[in-house]
Amino acid sequence: MQHLYRFQTADHIIAGQNSIKSLADHLHLIGTNVKSVLILTQPSSKRAGFVDDIVAQLSDKGIKADVNMDILPEPTIGNIEEVFQSIANEPYDLLIGMGGGSVLDTTKIFSVLKTNDSNIRDLLGTDLVQKPGIPTILIPTTSGTGSEVTPNAIVTLPEEELKIGIVSKYLLPKMVFIDPVLTLGLPRPITAATGMDAFTHSLESFISNKANPISDMFALESIRLISSSIIEAYQNGSSVEAREKMLIGSMYGGMALTSAGTAAVHALAYPLGGRFKITHGVANSMLLPHVMEFNMDAITDRLFQVAEPMGIKIEGLSTEEVAQKVVERIVEWTNILEIPQNLKEYGVKEEDLPELAVAASQVTRLLNNNPKELSLEDMEAIYRKLLV
Ligand SMILES: NC(=O)c1ccc[n+]([C@@H]2O[C@H](COP(=O)([O-])OP(=O)(O)OC[C@H]3O[C@@H](n4cnc5c(N)ncnc54)[C@H](O)[C@@H]3O)[C@@H](O)[C@H]2O)c1
Ligand SMILES: [Fe+2]
Repeated sequence: MQHLYRFQTADHIIAGQNSIKSLADHLHLIGTNVKSVLILTQPSSKRAGFVDDIVAQLSDKGIKADVNMDILPEPTIGNIEEVFQSIANEPYDLLIGMGGGSVLDTTKIFSVLKTNDSNIRDLLGTDLVQKPGIPTILIPTTSGTGSEVTPNAIVTLPEEELKIGIVSKYLLPKMVFIDPVLTLGLPRPITAATGMDAFTHSLESFISNKANPISDMFALESIRLISSSIIEAYQNGSSVEAREKMLIGSMYGGMALTSAGTAAVHALAYPLGGRFKITHGVANSMLLPHVMEFNMDAITDRLFQVAEPMGIKIEGLSTEEVAQKVVERIVEWTNILEIPQNLKEYGVKEEDLPELAVAASQVTRLLNNNPKELSLEDMEAIYRKLLV
């Protein structure tokens, strides 16, 4: 049978500058009578006044809204469970997540914990959630994970020193607001790391074994949008045009990975996050050029195809030369974006590499998407390139 491909996304996407100001007016799209809401968020969104604005909109409609800001960045399973326990008995009928991927993923998890008689560990893996959760609205404030449109939620397991995903169609939200105004205040290092995470989603989806016409469309457009705005968003964070391109680009990255999956970059990044607390976007951007070099002979044609969307001049160059230029451009960006390139800065030593490689080798869900197989030695060699 021909290789099949599929795609599923959020029910409703409402996008544009200041779109969150219309949140309460769109509540009818949820399809149920909303009375009591929990807003999960982070201090930066509260400080900027975005949370109070939503609480006021809901209050005008007679809806009570509580606010919780106890979720930590890249939360552990323990942090998520503890916060969930504190709200588990409240009669919320809608969850709103406004934040980076950490808040969005947690909102998705809370939604299904509310209706499934399970603990988080039972749900780790693919399609293990039995019942739909309570409705969610997801509002990203980083550009970003694309979590607002993916069926994935990632948690950190401190004992195993690993990050792992829950994948279920029931994690997809009822509604998403894509509002670039929320990202204007994103600090430079977070703009850089989360922007490179978004780019990694699109490039990995484009070279994935599961790449297909639907994922390619989102991946190529995401690559074009991010390539034309990532440096501008970093250097001139108040440019709403650059921020909007980044936010749409990161949503498209999420759509691409929903259909095609990420691959070895993400698999090798997870142990760096789990064990050495290296931020997800930083770990990905450190690994991205080296994993692409490793894959090079299998993906030369695919890299050639992303050169033009990345704004790389290709006249007079061979396919191989163009593919090499793509990798060089990524390295140039990471330099301009001042993303660390040395694992030693995070305390990683040569003797840690075998364990890191074994941990990465367990992320088979993503390694299966990589165009080339990686042995433990291959993975160690990639990590070693970052011990400089
Ligand atoms: N579900 C998915 O499909 C998916 C995909 C990729 C990554 N992830 C996961 O998402 C998490 C990372 O999410 P992230 O990269 O968005 O970072 P994050 O949510 O951890 O946020 C990073 C920091 O930025 C702050 N922040 C967020 N928005 C801000 C704003 N507008 N202004 C100022 N500060 C702001 C947060 O409070 C936090 O301190 C990781 O756990 C990663 O594994 C999930
Ligand atoms: Fe990611």
